[in-house]
Amino acid sequence: MSQIVTFEERDPVGLICIDNPPVNAIGHSVRLELVDAIARAQKSSSITVLLIMSSGEMFSAGADISEFDRPLGEPSFQQVQARIESCHLPVVAAIHGLALGGGLELALACHYRVAQRNARLGMPEITLGIIPGAGGTQRLPRLIGARAALNMMLSGTPVSAPDAKALGLVDEVAEGDLCDAALRFCKRLVHEGLGPRPTCNRIVFDGLDDTEIAAALLPHARVLKGRTTQDLLVEAIKASKLPFAQGIAIEAALAQKSLASRESLALRHVFFAERESGKLSGVSSANARQAQPAAIRQVAIIGSGTMGSGIAIAFADAGLEVLVNDNDPAALARSREIIHSTYASSVKRGRMIQNTADERIGRIRNTLTLAEVADADLVIEAVFEDMELKNYVLSKLDSFLPPQRLIATNTSTLSVTELARATRHPGRILGLHFFVPAHASRLLEIVRTEYTSAESLSTAFRVAKRLKKNAVVSRDAFGFIGNRMMLDGYFREAELLLLEGATPAQVDTALENFGFAMGPQRVSDLGGNDVGTKARVQLFKRESRPDPYFVIADHLTEMERLGQKTGRGFYRYENGSREAVPDWEVITLIEKLALERGISRREISDQEIVERCILSLINVGAIVLEEGIAARAADIDVVWTSGYGFPRQLGGPMFYADTLGLPDVLLRIRHYHKTLGYYWRPATLIERLAAAGSSFQQWDGSSVSQ
Ligand code: CAA
Repeated sequence: MSQIVTFEERDPVGLICIDNPPVNAIGHSVRLELVDAIARAQKSSSITVLLIMSSGEMFSAGADISEFDRPLGEPSFQQVQARIESCHLPVVAAIHGLALGGGLELALACHYRVAQRNARLGMPEITLGIIPGAGGTQRLPRLIGARAALNMMLSGTPVSAPDAKALGLVDEVAEGDLCDAALRFCKRLVHEGLGPRPTCNRIVFDGLDDTEIAAALLPHARVLKGRTTQDLLVEAIKASKLPFAQGIAIEAALAQKSLASRESLALRHVFFAERESGKLSGVSSANARQAQPAAIRQVAIIGSGTMGSGIAIAFADAGLEVLVNDNDPAALARSREIIHSTYASSVKRGRMIQNTADERIGRIRNTLTLAEVADADLVIEAVFEDMELKNYVLSKLDSFLPPQRLIATNTSTLSVTELARATRHPGRILGLHFFVPAHASRLLEIVRTEYTSAESLSTAFRVAKRLKKNAVVSRDAFGFIGNRMMLDGYFREAELLLLEGATPAQVDTALENFGFAMGPQRVSDLGGNDVGTKARVQLFKRESRPDPYFVIADHLTEMERLGQKTGRGFYRYENGSREAVPDWEVITLIEKLALERGISRREISDQEIVERCILSLINVGAIVLEEGIAARAADIDVVWTSGYGFPRQLGGPMFYADTLGLPDVLLRIRHYHKTLGYYWRPATLIERLAAAGSSFQQWDGSSVSQ
C-alpha cells in the first residue's frame, strides 16, 4: 500500500492525495505513485471526476530539488502531466498553502483548479537558476497570457489565490474547508456535464515584443545582474506561441541547459546551504534532539540606538511583541522617531499599507525600567560597544531573569565568552550579530561560546527562522566569520591595492563588475568610515594587526570624511546625493600614505584587483574553517551571499573557489605570498585539499558529522 500518494473513492470523485512531508516535493516516488493512482481511478466505473490534493502545510513546493544532480527517473514530470491532461475524466487540482514550481505545473496540467483563499501560487525557479521545465513556460502563458506569465516567472514571487483567479489561473477561490469546496466543485462539473479541458489545447492570446521584454526585465535588473536564466526563460515563453508539442520540446532543451549551468549549480548550493546553516552542527545529534527551543512571544531589547531600533522593527515585522528599554528618555524618543520614519518610508515606497505599519508600530513599547523586561522570552542587549557597560547590563539581566531565559548580546567586536563568563548562567548567553539595517538584512550570525547550551542555540535558530533570516553559527573570535574575512581578506586587500596605485573608483567598479552589489569603498562610505575605525579599535583589544591595516579609512575618519553622511569619504557626495564622485584630495592622501610606507605605486589591472580581493577572501575563509570559527564552508557562503553582497550566482566564496579548482587557487595564492608577503600565507586547509584533489564541498561532507 502506498505511503506517499493515496487514492480513495468518494463516489463519484476519485480523490488522489499527495502526502510527502515536509513540503510535498514531487520526487520520483511521488510521480510513480501519481501515475499509479490515476490508472486505478480510470479503471473504476463509478468514478466520473478526479481530484488531486495534498495533505500537510502546502499543495507542493515543486520538484524535489535534491534529485536535480542525478538523472530524473521515469515517469518524468512531462509523462505524468501528459497522463493527467489526456485523462478522459475531468481532473481538478485543489490547492492550499503554496503551489510552487513543479507543484504549480502539476496543477496547470489538471483541467480545473480550485484554490483556498490564503493559498499562493508561484514559479520561483529563476531563484534556482533554472526555468520551469515541467510545462510551465508553455501552459502558464496559455492560461494567463505570455506577458503575465513572464512577469510571474521573472519575479519568482507567488501570487495570492484571488489574484490568480483574476489572472485566469484558478477557476474558484474556496472559502472554508478546501476538501469540501473542491468536492462540491467536482460534483458541479459532473452535474453540468463539463468534461476535460486540456490546457495544451488553448492558444496564447498575446505576444511578447522586444520592448515588452525589456520592460518586464527592468524591475529585476539588480537581482538578475550577471545572470543568464532570464534569457532562456524569454526564449521558452516565446515558444509557447508554437504548437504545444514543439513548444514543450524547446522548453525541455532549455530547461536542461539551465539545469546544467554553473549559475544553477551555485544557486542550488546556496539554497541548501541556507537551510543547512540553520541547523545544529557541532552539537552531537543526541544533544540536538534533546534541545528544546523556548517559545518566543515577547522580546525585550536593551539599548535604543540605531541597532536597537532596527532589531525592534525586525521583531515587530515578524509579529512579536517588543519592549525597548533605555535609561535615557531622549534616546527612547529618538528611537521612536527612527521606527516611525522607517515605517513611513516603507509605506511611501508601497512596500506596506498604513494599517500594517500602524499595527507593527503598535507592537513596540518603550520602558525606562529595566526590571520590566522580566516577562520577555528573549532579551537582546544592544547598548554601546563597551565591555564594561555590556558586562554591567548582562550581569544585571542575569541576576533577575529566570535561569533558562535566553540572553543575547548584539556585539560585533567584543568577546562574547568574556561577557558570558561574567554571568552566573553562561550557558544561556550567546551573540546575535545583526547586520545594518537590522530589519532588512537577511543574515544573522549566532555567536556561540564554549559555554553556550544546545537549548540556547536551538532557540536562537528558531528566532532566526521567525525573523526569516539566514542563521549561521560562528565561534566567538576576532570579527566572527563575516567581519574577520572582510577585514583580514577582502577589504584589507582593497585598501592595499589603493596604496599600490589603484583608485577607489577602479577598485569598486572592478568588484561590482565581478558581481558584488557594491564595491568596498562605496560600502565603507555608506556605513560610515568612523564605524569601521571604532570597530577596529575594539577588535584590536582582542588581537592587533600590523600597519598598513585600514590606514586610509582611519585617516579619512580623522579628517571627518566619514562617508555619505558628511558628504565626503572615499568619494565626494554633492548636495546630499548618493552619487559617488572621485575626489583628488583622497588620491593625494593615498599617495602620501603610500610614500610614508615606502610603497611604490604602479598601474594595476582590474583583473589583479578582482583576483587579489577574492583570493584573499577565500584564503582567510579557509583559515576561519581551520580555526573552527565556521563549521562548514557552506556556512561561509551563506554569510557572504546574504550579508556582504557576494554574487549569489557564484555560490559564495568557498563554492566559487571549488569552481576555480583548489590547485589553481593555491598556485595564485602562493604567487602573491611570494610577491606580497607574509599575510598571503596559504591556508593549510587549501594546501591539504588541493593535494588530495578534494574541494570545500567534499570537506563539508566529510567533516561535519559530529
Ligand atoms: N525540493 C526538495 N526539498 C525541498 C524543496 C524542494 N522543492 N523545498 C523545500 N525543501 C526542503 C528544504 O530543503 C528543507 O529541508 P530540511 O528540513 O531537510 O532542511 C525542508 O524542505 C523545509 O524547507 P524550508 O526550511 O525552506 O521551509 P520553509 O517553511 O521556511 O519554506 C518553502 C518552505 C517556501 C516551500 C521553501 O522551502 C522553498 O522556497 N522551497 C523551494 C521552492 C522552489 O524553488 N520550488 C521550485 C522547485 S524547482 C521545480 O519545481 C522545477 C520544475 O520546473 C520541475
